[in-house]
Amino acid sequence: RTRPLVLGIETSCDETGVGIVRGTTLLANTIASSMEEHARYGGVVPEVAARAHLEALGPAIGTALGEAGVTLGEIDAIAVTNGPGLAGALMVGVGAAKALALSLEVPIYAVNHLVGHVGADLLDDEAPLETPTVALLVSGGHTSLLLVRDLVSDVELLGETIDDAAGEAFDKVARVLGLPYPGGPEIDRAAIGGDPAAIRFPRGLTHPKDLAAHRYDFSFSGLKTAVARWVEQREAAGEPVPLADVAASFREAVVDVLVGKAVAACADLGVPRLLLGGGVVANSRLREVARSRADAAGIALRVPPLSLCTDNGAMIAALGAQLVMAGHAPSELGFGADSTLPV
Ligand code: KG4
Ligand code: ZN
Repeated sequence: RTRPLVLGIETSCDETGVGIVRGTTLLANTIASSMEEHARYGGVVPEVAARAHLEALGPAIGTALGEAGVTLGEIDAIAVTNGPGLAGALMVGVGAAKALALSLEVPIYAVNHLVGHVGADLLDDEAPLETPTVALLVSGGHTSLLLVRDLVSDVELLGETIDDAAGEAFDKVARVLGLPYPGGPEIDRAAIGGDPAAIRFPRGLTHPKDLAAHRYDFSFSGLKTAVARWVEQREAAGEPVPLADVAASFREAVVDVLVGKAVAACADLGVPRLLLGGGVVANSRLREVARSRADAAGIALRVPPLSLCTDNGAMIAALGAQLVMAGHAPSELGFGADSTLPV
């Protein structure tokens, strides 16, 4: 098929995503999130996420078909995330996807969640994904820098976080500051009017001695500890905590490292394109700094709409369609879910 109709299923974390595409045309992108259920725990609880997928997935498939105006019988292929992610959560999507493929007698494609995030950019009608590109994927579950030479056959992991994900750092620091979960939007809001240079928080893995082994890796747990310590010392001294300055300075430290390493990768590798993906792309300062530093370095910056940056089924469907169009063999039905699946 030249423009296959593909249904994609994404259940690697707390978003139940079902997307439908025809080739590179987005027809439906249905997302049900269990975020509120996790809020009282201050983070995603794997068992709660898996149960929520089980309940949300069937209805989400129905909604997506309605949104796309197609019937199940018309679907040419199924694509599903089989890792990385939460094992139990992944299994719900993989099980459902296999049942659909079997009953519809269509091929199924197991796809990598991180590569799926890059696939989101295929759905931009005006200027679809160009390769090679560097991709910076930042969410509550991952912080990865990829070199994408060819989306379906050549994706290389340049680096990733060695401890917390960037979104996780926002969530943990928000808790330190007494702000609710998810912390990213709260810190973005709290930082309004704050001075990003008020406090010089540490930039993980940017010292020359760290760069040799961790040039494209990230570390945010030291930053979180530094913010917690700074706040504790203020409180112990009986001084007020300048929330806006702390939030702005913390955010600056995260964004500085993320954009700095992504732009350095583009320069080192001679790749003049940078794609952003993941829920942290909602961060206003990340967008600003990425835009200005990419412009200054002559790098074409691509930021898909937020509904395609956060976890979703459309990006998985888009990657599946790409595999079909490239003539890739479908996955054997015996494939499993792999919580640490490499790119
Ligand atoms: O991609 P996503 O919706 O789900 C996964 O984690 O897979 O990303 C959610 C993460 C959370 O950690 C949340 O705090 C963070 O993205 N986030 C933000 C912002 N909005 C959401 N982080 C920084 N600034 C934001 N405005
Ligand atoms: Zn993701």
